[in-house]
Amino acid sequence: MEDLAIFFGRFHPILVHLPIGFLIMAFLMWGFQKWKKSHAFDQAIAFCLLMGTISAALACVAGYLLSTSGGYEGALISQHMWGGIFTTLVAGLVYVVFSSNLSSRWPSAIASTLMMVMIGGLSFTGHIGGSLTHGSDFLTEYAPIFGSRANQLPPPASMEEVVLYGHVIQPILQEKCISCHRSDKLKGGLSLKNPESIRKGGESGPLFLTSAKETSELIRRIHLPESNEEVMPPKGKSQLTEAEIALLEAWIMAGEDFEKPLLSYGNDTIQNLAGSYLGLVKNGSGGNESIGALAAIDSMTLVQLRESGLVIRELLADSYRYDVSIPQTALANQDLGNILGKLELIKDNIIWLNVSDLGLDNAQLANLTPMNNLEKLRLERNKLTDKSISLLAKFPKLQVLNLYGNDLTDACLSDFQQLQKLEKVYVWQTKITAKQAGKVELVS
Ligand code: HEC
Repeated sequence: MEDLAIFFGRFHPILVHLPIGFLIMAFLMWGFQKWKKSHAFDQAIAFCLLMGTISAALACVAGYLLSTSGGYEGALISQHMWGGIFTTLVAGLVYVVFSSNLSSRWPSAIASTLMMVMIGGLSFTGHIGGSLTHGSDFLTEYAPIFGSRANQLPPPASMEEVVLYGHVIQPILQEKCISCHRSDKLKGGLSLKNPESIRKGGESGPLFLTSAKETSELIRRIHLPESNEEVMPPKGKSQLTEAEIALLEAWIMAGEDFEKPLLSYGNDTIQNLAGSYLGLVKNGSGGNESIGALAAIDSMTLVQLRESGLVIRELLADSYRYDVSIPQTALANQDLGNILGKLELIKDNIIWLNVSDLGLDNAQLANLTPMNNLEKLRLERNKLTDKSISLLAKFPKLQVLNLYGNDLTDACLSDFQQLQKLEKVYVWQTKITAKQAGKVELVS
């Protein structure tokens, strides 16, 4: 039943154009007759009013069915519904008055007044309907001075001026997500319109990582393959590019912030991605001293690594910076040591590495090849102990480390000192209790 309701409901956006056409046609012919002081169109006007009323009634039913499919909330939807019902009733009344007026039983002022009220109702309902589908600032968005675009940050001239959220993240959300996630169309209970609503999160809770949340629903959904039911933006809609996915993920991972200048993130990858996104940095090099070009990796090597089960994603086209994960399925026909050994081939190009849930132990971590550019390492739910922390010194650029679900205690805290660049460590479900260890933030 529910599917059937949605099926018919989705005809609403098509059906609504019929009453708009018929009723405006009736109105125009009526005005023309007044001007010409003629009655030549009387029958045609009555016909248009009748068709307009019937199609408006059908549009009301379909609209109601569509609204039951969820995702529409707030004042606009009820204004639109009652506006539609009102316009339909008035159109029916104009038809009755008008067709009986053909034999002049009513003073024509009544028909005229009703006709004006009907057109008023039609315009109001149509406008609210447009606001529901396109957003209430659709018409005025590009208007000079008062339009919402006019208040946006001016484009940055240099890397120093860039604000990550304002210049990069907000425009991505605006282009790819806002059509379904805003205050008057809360799909999944989520609005991505402004910082306040983003902080609130959606039905499944906050988008940013907190002590209670180990993963972000937003990050999970933007990484799903396009065929997946839950992928965002949904199948068939304009998808995110690789760079946009990486930027959204990096922004969420860096913690809740809407004001921070890009350069204060102290993270080469975010800076590089955002700089290229804005056209301020040439891919892989230039602009900022700290963003060095990486050596090219030939495509045969990548093909070979992918065939052996590694999932490799380039963070930005032609940057040779990779996000590498080893899924459990890669262990089906080879042992972990073997597959970890293959990382050697691209070791300086691995920026993010995910080796979680693989049963990795201290000995295997010790054997792992040094990676000079690794910034983010995910080690959750492995068999690591306190000794493992000192083994991480071979990743000199490590900034974010996830150790969730390993057998660690406070005894390993002092070993974090050697990791110069480390900013954030996730230690949820370990035995680590101390809250703060120097400049490193422990998230538990
Ligand atoms: C065509 C409409 C549409 C677009 C565009 C869209 N979404 Fe969604 N989104 C939905 C719907 C519908 C749901 C709820 C249904 C579901 O759970 O799959 C949802 C749910 C979500 C949720 C889960 C909310 C929660 O707390 O359960 C997140 C996160 C999300 N979307 C993020 C995004 C992001 C990020 C973008 C842009 C990159 C985006 N969406 C673009 C329709 C859309």
